[in-house]
Amino acid sequence: MMIVKTTTPEYFDLLNKGVSRELQVSVQYMLQHSKMQKLLRRVIPENMLLDKTTYEALAKVLQEFAIQEMKHAGAIMERIYLLGGQATTKADKVKIGDSLREFGTLDVKAEEEALDLYRKVIEMAAKLGDWETREMFEKIYGDEEKHLIRFQEFTEVADEPDFGTTAGSEFETVFKDDWIAMLNKALASEISAIIQYTNQHEKANVEQNRRRKTALEVVTDKTKPISISDLTRSIAMDEMKHMEAIAERIYEIKKECVAAVDPLPDVGDTADNWIMNNRVAENSAITFYRQIISKALEIGDVKTRKMFEDIIVQEEDHYWKFDEWVP
Ligand SMILES: [Fe+2]
Ligand SMILES: [Fe+2]
Ligand SMILES: [Fe+2]
Ligand SMILES: [Fe+2]
Repeated sequence: MMIVKTTTPEYFDLLNKGVSRELQVSVQYMLQHSKMQKLLRRVIPENMLLDKTTYEALAKVLQEFAIQEMKHAGAIMERIYLLGGQATTKADKVKIGDSLREFGTLDVKAEEEALDLYRKVIEMAAKLGDWETREMFEKIYGDEEKHLIRFQEFTEVADEPDFGTTAGSEFETVFKDDWIAMLNKALASEISAIIQYTNQHEKANVEQNRRRKTALEVVTDKTKPISISDLTRSIAMDEMKHMEAIAERIYEIKKECVAAVDPLPDVGDTADNWIMNNRVAENSAITFYRQIISKALEIGDVKTRKMFEDIIVQEEDHYWKFDEWVP
């Protein structure tokens, strides 16, 4: 199947640069969204009557944009697979910032870089006669321009100064560095899962258009890739909520998120591979979250423990859903 007469390795590299950027900003905006309560709390003791609108408005915008960026990442991945390439799972470096002004400045910069890159993509797509990709990027370009304009509003905000951290109460002494490192490792595994499942969803989407291989596939009009495509989409959305919850907890106890991707996502080549890899991913999440729960129990961090008890139930559901498809 050759949709476009000439694709070049450089072309796929360029499209994958787009993927890496979209993955980066999606995580970046979601973590900034999760951090907003922390920024807000910094302000409240100084003025209980303060107008929270700016913070709340930006928090909402960030969440909305984070979802849009993940959709952009997915759309570009799907296009790459359709053209016969390999979509990357590598995200560019996430930069979170520590105030409204910093959020605004970092995000404006990210959007400007996107516009620069996508002008190149549009030009190259036109050169190769890849009209569909060109049109897709023109649409994405329009979204990024809207994001840029919205973020510009926040680059001049005079933030409330950080009055430094007041000495914590006794109960806070359990939030030690090694504990925060564990929570950040959980965050990293959620980010990894989101990327792995999003990539697979798009790969499966393309694969589902292949010729039917069994009579059953013809009769039911269902193939394994179709089922896996549906499954990975809904599970990726669960993982997105886990990421948000863990990030909010880290910020609630006045610590910082690291935003690594660990383990590296492993998409797999065939439908059977995908399933096996996902089962491995869910298994290691369950095993690691059990350790987190027993550590939380040991140090007495009840709130974090309860959160992970909820999350682990969902990870186990994910595990069994993938397990059903194991060949
Ligand atoms: Fe985007
Ligand atoms: Fe954007
Ligand atoms: Fe998860
Ligand atoms: Fe999961």
